Amino acid sequence: MSFLPKPHGGKLIDAYNPNYDLASVKKEIEIDNIALSDLELIGVGLFSPLRGFLGKEDYESVVSSMRLADGTIWSIPVTLPISQEIAEELQEGEEIKLVHNGEAYGVIKVSSWYEPDLEKEAIEVYKTNELAHPGVKRLFERGPVYVAGEVILVKKPEKGVFGDVWFEPKDTRALFEGKGWKTVVGFQTRNPIHRAHEYIQKAALETVDGLFVNPLVGETKSDDISADVRLKSYRVLLENYYPQDRVQLGVYPAAMRYAGPREAIFHAIARKNFGCTHFIVGRDHAGVGNYYGTYDAQHIFSNFTEEELGIKPLFFEHSFYCKKCEGMASDKTCPHSKEDRVILSGTKVREMLRAGQLPPSTFSRKEVVEVLIEGMKEEARV
Ligand code: ADX
Repeated sequence: MSFLPKPHGGKLIDAYNPNYDLASVKKEIEIDNIALSDLELIGVGLFSPLRGFLGKEDYESVVSSMRLADGTIWSIPVTLPISQEIAEELQEGEEIKLVHNGEAYGVIKVSSWYEPDLEKEAIEVYKTNELAHPGVKRLFERGPVYVAGEVILVKKPEKGVFGDVWFEPKDTRALFEGKGWKTVVGFQTRNPIHRAHEYIQKAALETVDGLFVNPLVGETKSDDISADVRLKSYRVLLENYYPQDRVQLGVYPAAMRYAGPREAIFHAIARKNFGCTHFIVGRDHAGVGNYYGTYDAQHIFSNFTEEELGIKPLFFEHSFYCKKCEGMASDKTCPHSKEDRVILSGTKVREMLRAGQLPPSTFSRKEVVEVLIEGMKEEARV
């Protein structure tokens, strides 16, 4: 008997078929990195219960009420944008190859296509229509028509340096069960793991069996630290500071949407599909700039019952190192003033690292900082 939660919608979708007869599919469309990762994640069931890119009814329902048309909770539209010219040639029911850099990765069985109200999508999903928001900018750039239909994943993209930490939901479920974990907390990050991240992870780990460190390695904005460099920093941190039998590293290969609260729900659902029972939501989860309130990504969970969502969010306050406490803390546990607290913004830290300056060890572990500085130097050289 498994203690892990059922996948979202009841069962894991498996739309992978490497033997699919591609030769019989003549038409093709070129897809971008985000669509490629969406295709793969639908195919391997991480986005269960989605079987393809959203049709109009599901799309409009997700945008306005965070649910698919059948009522299943779903907070971020997963859509396939195309140009007007391609849309004019479409025929209902036809199959089209999904091609990236000349290579076919899948097939879509076209069920419909429609012009989305991008303004509405921006406001509802991202809470802003400002192009300065990286998710909104991408939304408006990506194309005026969405094509919908079920997909078949025919080829999985190369995994490169992520090969040994790239697990599909069926793999993570088997891994967690193999370790005998009945409760597993998932941790999302698009950053190196700093002391505050470590603190909330370990606070959560005090109450559950296992920790699934699950950094996002899909497309991010250009000034975020690259996934390759971050991966090295995760490995060194986990090797040195985490009990090996209670932690598992695995990547979350989706694109970052920067949609704050809505994305927190989306992140939680994907982690449920991986088999997590709990999910960490800290300060300004999946946020960018000042678009969302510090705890908006926690408040949004009150729209749903835990039973319906099927994964338990664990909320954490903004954490920091306090010099007077001589340890990690938050407003909930520390009575001291701002001046006693080591708080650095992500932007500030990235600037320091790029300049080769070490952030204090109270902010980030020495081993992590060294790997980041070295990695960023190497990237600057190429
Ligand atoms: S995110 O875009 O992936 O959410 P980040 O990697 O910074 O960004 O955060 C990963 C997780 O840690 C999120 O749940 C976030 O809310 C939480 N978090 C980040 N920094 C802190 C902090 N100082 N205190 C508490 N939670 C934090």
